[in-house]
Amino acid sequence: MKFNPFGWRKRRKTASVDAPPPRHIAIIMDGNGRWARRRGMPRTTGHAAGAETFRRVATYCKNIGVEYLTVYAFSTENWKRPADEVSSILQILEKYLAEAISTMERDRVKMRFFGDTTVLSSKLQQLIRETEELSTQFDGVQVNMCVNYGGRDEILRAAQAYRADPDAPTLLTDAAFSRYLWSSGVPDPDLLIRPGGEMRLSNFLLWQAAYAEFYFTDTLWPDFDERELDRAIAAYHARERRYGDVN
Ligand code: IPE
Ligand code: IPE
Ligand code: MG
Repeated sequence: MKFNPFGWRKRRKTASVDAPPPRHIAIIMDGNGRWARRRGMPRTTGHAAGAETFRRVATYCKNIGVEYLTVYAFSTENWKRPADEVSSILQILEKYLAEAISTMERDRVKMRFFGDTTVLSSKLQQLIRETEELSTQFDGVQVNMCVNYGGRDEILRAAQAYRADPDAPTLLTDAAFSRYLWSSGVPDPDLLIRPGGEMRLSNFLLWQAAYAEFYFTDTLWPDFDERELDRAIAAYHARERRYGDVN
């Protein structure tokens, strides 16, 4: 057989030969609009392409054994966009959830939503309830979909919920406060990826990302794929996480 130094690439099923993948990956799915504009297409087409990428990436995460995948789909600031763009993003989400409901059993994907979903359409809220209810039966990767999500909004609401809770612990520790966040019970992200070339958090997971490893790439979200995720995971494995300790 001809020697192929890269032959192992074809065989492997996981993102890394010897290291387990990060337990929790968070992604700011950015760059849909520019992706579409470069092709002379409306921004909406970019959002639809972004939804496809999300499907592929979520499946890949499940296959390589990632436990939690948190994605930023719509921020509290995204309401500033033109009404037709906002409504098309929410329609794409609606379509995605309706399809996800029919494939969840096969994929065993669990879903949770972070963000104030009470302002969304009643149809979308119903789909969210259905996906969350179905999810309780499954044990695969947990997808946390951030919709109408803002990190500051999350922290403010947690503070208010703590103040209003008659059973709240008097000693407010880091762990006690975390239980009032939308992400309650979910471990902090290990790897936070932002495609689309911007190097900012844009109000994503402000509390939870305290010790996340960041990975930025110019690749626009609709062009992001399994290989890009492998690259991000490889970069993550090359980091040394010290959490403030000495080397
Ligand atoms: C991310 O892509 C999707 C949402 C914010 C909903 P953008 O729409 O921000 O794409 P760019 O950054 O304009 O290219
Ligand atoms: C962040 O992207 C929000 C989502 C991807 C959902 P934006 O495109 O809204 O971020 P900014 O405006 O460039 O900071
Ligand atoms: Mg953007």
